[in-house]
Amino acid sequence: MSQHFQHDVLVIGSGAAGLSLALTLPGHMRIAVLSKGDLANGSTFWAQGGVAAVLDDTDTVQSHVEDTLNAGGGLCHEDAVRFTVEHSREAIQWLIDQGVPFTRDEAVDPQHPGFEFHLTREGGHSHRRIIHAADATGAAIFKTLLEQARQRPNIELLEQRVAVDLITERRLGLDGDRCLGAYVLNRATGEVDTFGSRFTILATGGAAKVYLYTSNPDGACGDGIAMAWRSGCRVANLEFNQFHPTCLYHPQAKSFLITEALRGEGAHLKLPNGERFMQRFDPRGELAPRDIVARAIDHEMKRLGIDCVYLDISHKSETFIKTHFPTVYERCLGFSIDITRQPIPVVPAAHYTCGGVMVDAHGRTDVPGLYAIGETSFTGLHGANRMASNSLLECFVYGRAAATDILAQLQHIAIPVALPSWDASQVTDSDEDVIIAHNWDELRRFMWDYVGIVRTNKRLQRAQHRVRLLLDEIDEFYSNYKVSRDLIELRNLAQVAELMIRSAMARKESRGLHYTLDYPHMLPEALDTILVPATYAD
Ligand code: FAD
Ligand code: SIN
Repeated sequence: MSQHFQHDVLVIGSGAAGLSLALTLPGHMRIAVLSKGDLANGSTFWAQGGVAAVLDDTDTVQSHVEDTLNAGGGLCHEDAVRFTVEHSREAIQWLIDQGVPFTRDEAVDPQHPGFEFHLTREGGHSHRRIIHAADATGAAIFKTLLEQARQRPNIELLEQRVAVDLITERRLGLDGDRCLGAYVLNRATGEVDTFGSRFTILATGGAAKVYLYTSNPDGACGDGIAMAWRSGCRVANLEFNQFHPTCLYHPQAKSFLITEALRGEGAHLKLPNGERFMQRFDPRGELAPRDIVARAIDHEMKRLGIDCVYLDISHKSETFIKTHFPTVYERCLGFSIDITRQPIPVVPAAHYTCGGVMVDAHGRTDVPGLYAIGETSFTGLHGANRMASNSLLECFVYGRAAATDILAQLQHIAIPVALPSWDASQVTDSDEDVIIAHNWDELRRFMWDYVGIVRTNKRLQRAQHRVRLLLDEIDEFYSNYKVSRDLIELRNLAQVAELMIRSAMARKESRGLHYTLDYPHMLPEALDTILVPATYAD
């Protein structure tokens, strides 16, 4: 039997964004936080480098803002950038207060005794401003926030719950547009339960799993973007998919990231013959923004017909490497690569979804009562290319801003009652799950081949043709068979892929992460690609 639940706030996603929102809300509110796998399922747990923030007296808000605008290829919304950066110190202080064990600076500068944490550097940043917990910052933040959430009796943490779709007044045929909650598959019972809520939050992370090779964990399927789109929310700038330049290249390493902080601390990118090449592409060399570094690597790999390039930090002392990068050191050693002596074979892989569900400065979407925060959202911060370590910062700043907004509205909104149950009367068990696996592989491969680092009109047209065929097939499957996690994710991934391709076709220029051989130049005016769903345009 399916069940009905009621909460003040339903948070779909247990990463940095979802947990910071839940922890900012007061103890009298009933909050459910869902994860479709275990609670550590999202990208947050895997974040390595750290969180960008203005923390040192030699750094300034203006400098962080300018670096972000430069990396973003003219497309960042300056108000969003300024808002985020201005709140960065406060967000980090909140994390420190929660107990996050950031790495301390062994040699605190006597000129600045006030700041005791070590700051590292990454691409695009003109200052050392990345606070971190060695090279496993995400795990340290996640564990701390989860521990805090577990101590809060008003927060229910629910694992193995996959949100299928949002419940809106429009969907129920009622007057109005408000979001009233969500239908959620309980993977333990196989039933789709009904969650009614006064406020619903999409904190579902990105969609990099749309590509064959990615640094992201398996769940990064763009579920929140697809659910929001189906409910009538606009999405923006989905053509900007960030490829991280350096993922470990090894047949047994499933997309392990080699943090950009290695380059920040002096690692060199090299060709198989030991030659450094980044200076040929950008005067900032290895510390150019990611779009430039990933494209340079892609160019060299294609030019020389090689499978990977190399990242070399072996000129630093063994103690330095083991202290600053213990996770990368251990993981590489597991593949018989001793990074204190050898260069690391690396390739670019899909890493971050810069576009997403359009929101305002409070995380509000176009649908009343529905918020989007973290990687699933589009705030305008990242423009055409996200600067390293600005993403976790965005999760905290907007997670907390959304919580404040919800609190201000709380007294005016009632908990919805008598929501209809999920209707499973017309569907049966699937006897053809091979279709899901096949379509999943096909989708990720053509997205990699046709909508990757370098695009052309022809490749995008091919991708569009294929994704439309897949969407028809998946829709038919979805109408006839019971939902499973795989089917829900495939349906969402295909929907988001279609939106990405459509956005890429609409952009007739090369800018930031979107590079096409048919329009190699940047247009004088920087415009967002905004897609409007039919339900919203009606
Ligand atoms: P996530 O942490 O991805 O969490 C998503 C949550 O949503 C999960 O709990 C998931 O189970 C849940 N979910 C998704 N769909 C559903 C559904 N349908 N139903 C129920 N639950 C659902 N950024 C930085 O700023 N600094 C870094 O150093 C850094 N390093 C990175 C390293 C790696 C390897 C990766 C992959 C990313 C890195 N990033 C970094 C990016 C950053 O980690 C992410 O952008 C950020 O963690 C996203 O947080 P989030 O809360 O939005 O989503
Ligand atoms: C990294 O550590 O290289 C990832 C940083 C990021 O994605 O912001």
